[in-house]
Amino acid sequence: MKKSPRARSRQPNRTVSIIGTGSYVPERVLTNADIEKFVETSDEWITSRTGIKERRIAAEGEHTSHMAAKAAQRAMEQAGVTPGEIDVIILGTVTPDTFFPSTACHVQRILGAKNAACFDISAACSGFLFAVEIAQQFITNHTCNTVLVIGADKLSSIVNWEDRNTCVLFGDGAGAAVLRYRAGSHGVITTYMASDGNYGEILHMPGGGCALPITRDNVDQRLNTLHMNGRETFKQAIISMSAAATIALEQAGLTTDDLTCIIPHQANMRIIEALAERMKVPLGKFHVNLDRYGNTSAAAVAIALDEANRSGRFQLGDYVLLVVFGGGLTYASSVIQW
Ligand code: UT7
Repeated sequence: MKKSPRARSRQPNRTVSIIGTGSYVPERVLTNADIEKFVETSDEWITSRTGIKERRIAAEGEHTSHMAAKAAQRAMEQAGVTPGEIDVIILGTVTPDTFFPSTACHVQRILGAKNAACFDISAACSGFLFAVEIAQQFITNHTCNTVLVIGADKLSSIVNWEDRNTCVLFGDGAGAAVLRYRAGSHGVITTYMASDGNYGEILHMPGGGCALPITRDNVDQRLNTLHMNGRETFKQAIISMSAAATIALEQAGLTTDDLTCIIPHQANMRIIEALAERMKVPLGKFHVNLDRYGNTSAAAVAIALDEANRSGRFQLGDYVLLVVFGGGLTYASSVIQW
């Protein structure tokens, strides 16, 4: 485990802060009972093994950029920021509208954020927190003032709907945050991110890139869909998220007792329970919404953050820990004083 030197974004009288959050999920609800109709599974199996009851599926013609823009508009509205004030848009996704232009550029067009430099990052489910760290660095280094960070995925477009091992787990959605310096000491206190490419094949999409370009044969073998070794992914999720949580807390000089709320990646309730046990934190401190949305990849932690923010789960001055894990492997954490 590498120890990250990246820590504080505080300056004497100001701190890089999240000044607005937003999220969006598509209207269509796909319940466990609906999935029972096309693969051999049951509501009982899905609920007891994952905690997921339903997930949202994007409409025909509704792309990652459309969901991302809706989440971004809500975050900008809460932040009181106009599209012209956005200097950079960083979007974490593994389901871009197109390989290029980037989905962030598509979002820029929809928002009319004409002054923004835009790019995507590929860190799977960790994409949103990786983007928060990049945004924090840009602002701290005075590269720019206002950054729009988005996690958005349309996993329904890369799921093999005949594979019961994976299709029950995922959903579509987007979450966003606006970051900028704010007077005072509240804001993003620590960020940590790490990767281990040796585990790349436990959760990946083998086809579609230059290694295995799309051919009729590859599509017939479903190589253009998500493949996962569930048990190994489960194990690595617990190991990496508990390590990332410990490092972020150490860097912040805090203990779990100082935290009001923990917002974890929303993949499986049993992973969150195991994390709570390792961290010796009551499960009630974790914000969980995977029962309603499933695993929305890069969007998951961002949607949960927005939900927790808007529902008053934490107040000004409270400490919040975000911790994620995803394909790559990638993992990340951040302590924020709200
Ligand atoms: O963003 C990060 C991405 N992913 C994750 O974090 C996922 C991590 N992994 C997991 O959440 C869990 O490993 C799963 C939910 C995917 C699977 O749960 P598990 O308890 O690890 O089950 P398993 O893979 O060990 O499979 C147990 C049994 C198998 O049957 P046999 O071989 O014991 O007869 C599977 O074929 O459950 C079967 N199974 C199902 N049965 C009904 C697998 N999927 C299903 C299903 N419905 N949907």
